[in-house]
Amino acid sequence: MSLRKILISSSYIAALFFFACTTPSPDQSISEEMRYTEQYRPQFHFSPDSMWMNDPNGMVYYEGEYHLFYQFHPHSTVWGPMHWGHAITRDLVHWEHLPIALYPDSLGTIFSGSAVIDWSNSSGLGSSENPPLVAIFTHHNQSLADTGSDLFQYQSIAYSLDKGRSWAKYPGNPVLPNPGIRDFRDPKVSWYAEGEKWIMTLAAHDRIMFYSSPDLIDWTLESEFGALTGAHGGVWECPDLFPLDVEGEEKWVLLVSINPGGPNGGSATQYFVGEFDGKHFHNENPGTDALWIDHGKDNYAGVTWSYIPEVDGRRLFLGWMSNWQYANQVPTERWRSAMTLPRELLLERDGKGYLIRSVPAVETEKLRGEGIRLEPGPAKGSLDLWPIKDRAYPLYEIDLVFEYDPSDEAEFGIVLESEKQEQLIAGFNTRTRQVFVDRKASGKTDFSEHFPGIHTASYQVSREGEIRFHAFIDLSSLELFVDRGALVMTELCFPESGFEHIQLYSSQESVKLKTGAIYRLKRSW
Ligand code: FRU
Repeated sequence: MSLRKILISSSYIAALFFFACTTPSPDQSISEEMRYTEQYRPQFHFSPDSMWMNDPNGMVYYEGEYHLFYQFHPHSTVWGPMHWGHAITRDLVHWEHLPIALYPDSLGTIFSGSAVIDWSNSSGLGSSENPPLVAIFTHHNQSLADTGSDLFQYQSIAYSLDKGRSWAKYPGNPVLPNPGIRDFRDPKVSWYAEGEKWIMTLAAHDRIMFYSSPDLIDWTLESEFGALTGAHGGVWECPDLFPLDVEGEEKWVLLVSINPGGPNGGSATQYFVGEFDGKHFHNENPGTDALWIDHGKDNYAGVTWSYIPEVDGRRLFLGWMSNWQYANQVPTERWRSAMTLPRELLLERDGKGYLIRSVPAVETEKLRGEGIRLEPGPAKGSLDLWPIKDRAYPLYEIDLVFEYDPSDEAEFGIVLESEKQEQLIAGFNTRTRQVFVDRKASGKTDFSEHFPGIHTASYQVSREGEIRFHAFIDLSSLELFVDRGALVMTELCFPESGFEHIQLYSSQESVKLKTGAIYRLKRSW
């Protein structure tokens, strides 16, 4: 081959490569039949069509569509320069992928943030007839970070006038420059009606900073919270602030993700409950132990949808189903990561403090296929609960109420097993009073020393002698809701073949299954 030909063909390859790198999803290299059928691909959870995803961003409900933007690296299955990927759902079960919403620019890559509907056009970026959707996000400037400066994260905005389909960055970015804080990111903005101003809840290294603005452009610091409160095993990230009703009274909930420092290692999300007066957040939960939205290893950076209509009135949450300890190593090939099921957050009084329950959004019931009711009886021994096998897609929901004698020391629960004898166990120990998930032998675990293990959560049952396990099993995850979401454990697992067998087990005769139902779940793609 002549030198000229080599040059031409290599520039052709370079051009092709560039084209491939900039092609927005969906990935064209895969046939329609193969799409979402890859090994480990979640079948009823949101995952990107291809490539890397982390945190949910910009979650708003607008004109019948729940928007989900997400941290996205379109050129690789590992974390890298961040974009905002985009998808919508109209029913919280089926998803539609949309083109990338926000691309990196000269100010940096696009880290996590939120979106608002600027109904009164306070920003002047739209009109009152067509209020702009405004995204508020962190610009991360890696070249500045590389110089050793601390000022490399600052807050910027972008707006859309066509239901989030196309976006323009605000020319005056950043709207909130860095005041000299290394980790200064993940703005969650909402309208504070009583004070008629926007409130930005921002993670600033080891605390939350609250800013306010009349127009989403000029921001004033109001206060700080948390330097001496809550868990501090790692950096604070991805906050959310919203009111929730408890017995007719309104309380404010502050979610704060931390990494590392979670209850079972690595990433996790803690919460505080109290008052917010437009300036200060005052935590009213007594005690020094952190409260966790989820005790499993795989629910991080979760936040809630804004603008769900008042007639609905729910506070719906979605988390990133992974953990920074091994998120870049999980054994999936064409894509990496999925989101949790959408969950409703409910607030309850709990002694002197407050408890958040997370329950699967009621829409997930639409996933149900055929179901069977289980006869009450002893939970001891191995009982094959699922006569209707579906080898390709063993996807199911289990809802079991166990009864036990509180004076017995017992361990009981469920064992999910694959044809290859891979096992995932979820149980309760009445002596240690711990709920646990054991994924030591759940399939592929050797990609990270942090992955295999038994993960536990102390749990005080709400009704002595009874515990309810409500669980959703996808091809690579378990979401366990205990006693109507008083405790939740979300755990990834990578069995070579799906878990076809479900068994009950118990160390004591006295443990009984009081009621039980199992539903086969449908694929949502
Ligand atoms: C949390 C996080 C955020 C940041 C984003 C970067 O998982 O570290 O703090 O904005 O991921 O992708």
